[in-house]
Amino acid sequence: KKRPFQVAIDGPAASGKSTTAKMVAQRLGFDYIDTGAFYRCVTLAALSKGINPSDPSNTGKIASIAGEAQISLETVFPERTTSSASASPPTTRVYLDSIDVSSEIRTAQVSKHVSATAAIGAVREAVLHKVRSIGANDDFAEGAATARDGLVMDGRDIGTVVLPNADLKIFLVANSQVRAERRLQELIKNGADPASGVLQVEDVRKDLEQRDELDRTRKVSPLKKAPDAVELDTSGLTIEGQVDIIVSTVKGLQSRQ
Ligand code: CDP
Ligand code: CDP
Repeated sequence: KKRPFQVAIDGPAASGKSTTAKMVAQRLGFDYIDTGAFYRCVTLAALSKGINPSDPSNTGKIASIAGEAQISLETVFPERTTSSASASPPTTRVYLDSIDVSSEIRTAQVSKHVSATAAIGAVREAVLHKVRSIGANDDFAEGAATARDGLVMDGRDIGTVVLPNADLKIFLVANSQVRAERRLQELIKNGADPASGVLQVEDVRKDLEQRDELDRTRKVSPLKKAPDAVELDTSGLTIEGQVDIIVSTVKGLQSRQ
């Protein structure tokens, strides 16, 4: 059996990675793995134990929390379809130690500390181990965890570190004002953030820019475009537009394999 087709999607915060990745997976019948959810779960686990990930003296504690955390993802694809229109978007539930934390991991509090968590080398190793065990590896021809023909994975270091031999690498970008407005709409739609009071677009933009800066400048697996990745600016695109571009690129590559 051939190795499942691998699509790596990286880019800065709120550039559209997870929305795009899920819809590409739906259109192609591929699996979807959100790696950001793993770093968010470790951050949530630390905060709920009263441990501040942004305090450098807590590095060891955060690393052992990352090692012990049981994290699983479940993506529901409502109606697999080959047409771009009509289907309702797929949704991913995230479980930390068997508890559904899908909304808790998106709060402003978790967002504020997640880049500090993700900069810890031992945390990255633990997360890499977890995502590999659910199918993100290069040699799962036999007995693969992945049931489908392919895998779409999104994050910051997918094309550079997690799936260096991916069949297609996409680097999504959009200007920070556009990203902040999109993320604000998304937070409002999902019932906003109860802890944060009134959400302002400037606050959202600041959070995104601060995280991008930390993610780009950290020593281990920084956010960066892989040399063989295709950059796609979504500032002026619709979601359907960017999904169409990626789906047709995958189909083109598959027909040549
Ligand atoms: O959805 P959003 O872009 O806001 O964030 P996310 O994809 O959930 O990722 C949250 C944070 O996890 C990022 O800001 C990174 O610090 C970290 N992350 C990472 O370091 N490597 C990945 N492959 C994915 C996420
Ligand atoms: O995963 P990442 O943080 O990169 O982005 P996301 O969680 O998918 O959030 C991007 C938001 O922008 C979502 O609410 C999308 O619906 C929206 N959006 C987009 O991704 N692309 C467009 N062309 C227009 C809107």
